[in-house]
Amino acid sequence: MDKSLTTTLLFSFFLLISLSVSSLAQNCSSYSFTNNHKYSTCNDLSQLSCSLHWNYYPSNMTADIAFRKTGASTSNWIAWALNPTGPQMAGSQALVAYLHSNGTMLAYTTQVGASGSMQPASLNFGVPNISAENEGGVMTIFATLQLSTSLVSTNQVWQEGPLSGDNPGQHPLNAQNRQSVGTVNFVSGSVTSTGATTTPKDRKRNVHGVLNAVSWGILMPVGIIIARYLKVFKSAGPAWFYLHAICQTSGYAVGVAGWATGIKLGSDSPGITYNKHRKLGITIFALGTLQVLALLLRPKPDHKYRLYWNIYHHTIGYTTVILSIVNIFEGFEALGREKNWKKAYIGVLIFLGAVAVVLEAVTWLIVIKRKKTASSDKHVNGVNGYGSRVQQTA
Ligand SMILES: *[C@@H]1O[C@H](CO)[C@@H](O)[C@H](O)[C@H]1NC(C)=O
Ligand SMILES: *[C@@H]1O[C@H](CO)[C@@H](O)[C@H](O)[C@H]1NC(C)=O
Ligand SMILES: *[C@@H]1O[C@H](CO)[C@@H](O)[C@H](O)[C@H]1NC(C)=O
Ligand SMILES: *[C@@H]1O[C@H](CO)[C@@H](O)[C@H](O)[C@H]1NC(C)=O
Repeated sequence: MDKSLTTTLLFSFFLLISLSVSSLAQNCSSYSFTNNHKYSTCNDLSQLSCSLHWNYYPSNMTADIAFRKTGASTSNWIAWALNPTGPQMAGSQALVAYLHSNGTMLAYTTQVGASGSMQPASLNFGVPNISAENEGGVMTIFATLQLSTSLVSTNQVWQEGPLSGDNPGQHPLNAQNRQSVGTVNFVSGSVTSTGATTTPKDRKRNVHGVLNAVSWGILMPVGIIIARYLKVFKSAGPAWFYLHAICQTSGYAVGVAGWATGIKLGSDSPGITYNKHRKLGITIFALGTLQVLALLLRPKPDHKYRLYWNIYHHTIGYTTVILSIVNIFEGFEALGREKNWKKAYIGVLIFLGAVAVVLEAVTWLIVIKRKKTASSDKHVNGVNGYGSRVQQTA
């Protein structure tokens, strides 16, 4: 009884603390603007430490707005946009601002293209006035918007990204940059944000990640470990070969599905390109396919070309797995959130690495022992296979 009461009290206490901390951290109504700008309505936006402030005049449907970003860097651009076509970047009617290297704060309007381009252009609605300022890490865009009925309540998008030279460059694709979208109603004063909800595209990304991490990132390395170390145990017989084949073929089958989801994701997101991730993915898929095709050309074990085929098979195999692991980490970067996935995968890699190290040591012990017994028996034949394997290993 006492215990649960204490727990409840403690819980409410921490809840209160965290509530007051978060309202302290974000309270747009406590900001004051230079030039005595006063806004009757304001809303903190859930991502990228931004807030939107405005006065709306129903008589002429204009809104004077201020879009404010705290903790702004002068090597970044900021943008805020209305998008009647959807909760997305493409098609946005945007206001952009950044500090030009000549010291001027530039502010202009642009219609964001499907590729994310932000060339100055006039909007589908009037913007009779736009300016921007940068004061002690706070960047603000001031503008007057001539709204229409359909624009009074619509989608809003906001963004921040690095400058490349004196032009806006591609923004990062972190969780915050992807979720900085919501709605605004200039009349009622309400603002919503998609916030942390997972969109269908997020789910597709997750499926893509799981399929590829499990296939290329786990099944294939396990298959290699099986082939490399199980061979040594004579008692296991040819089992290693079948286990290896099962791992690699199921890995390849799941991997092809994962690869296809990646290609689909890429073509569904014009303007968002993870170039390195994409190129690596295509390379890995090509190498994996080559590996499958090479099985058809595999010479018999005693064929004189079998050694070369083995070297080829091992080289492509190891290259594929190493590139896959690199690309899985590229994928985690693109995913942004889901830090736990990265940790889990690192855990799996450490485990596989430890298993490989132990088995490597055991293999060497066995091979050395066999060599000794073999040379004392003057019976070299049985050792040959392992001898050549060790040579390749070294
Ligand atoms: C925000 O700040 C204003 C003025 O400082 C204050 O009156 C208001 O209660 C604050 N709102 C919240 C939610 O803390
Ligand atoms: C719209 O109306 C308000 C108040 O009536 C006025 O202050 C503002 O200048 C007007 N804006 C435009 C662009 O006409
Ligand atoms: C800085 O460059 C911008 C863009 O070229 C130009 O519009 C602006 O007038 C320049 N400002 C100064 C002080 O030269
Ligand atoms: C435009 O904004 C600037 C700076 O906020 C202000 O000085 C100017 O009076 C405004 N012009 C119009 C036409 O509203």
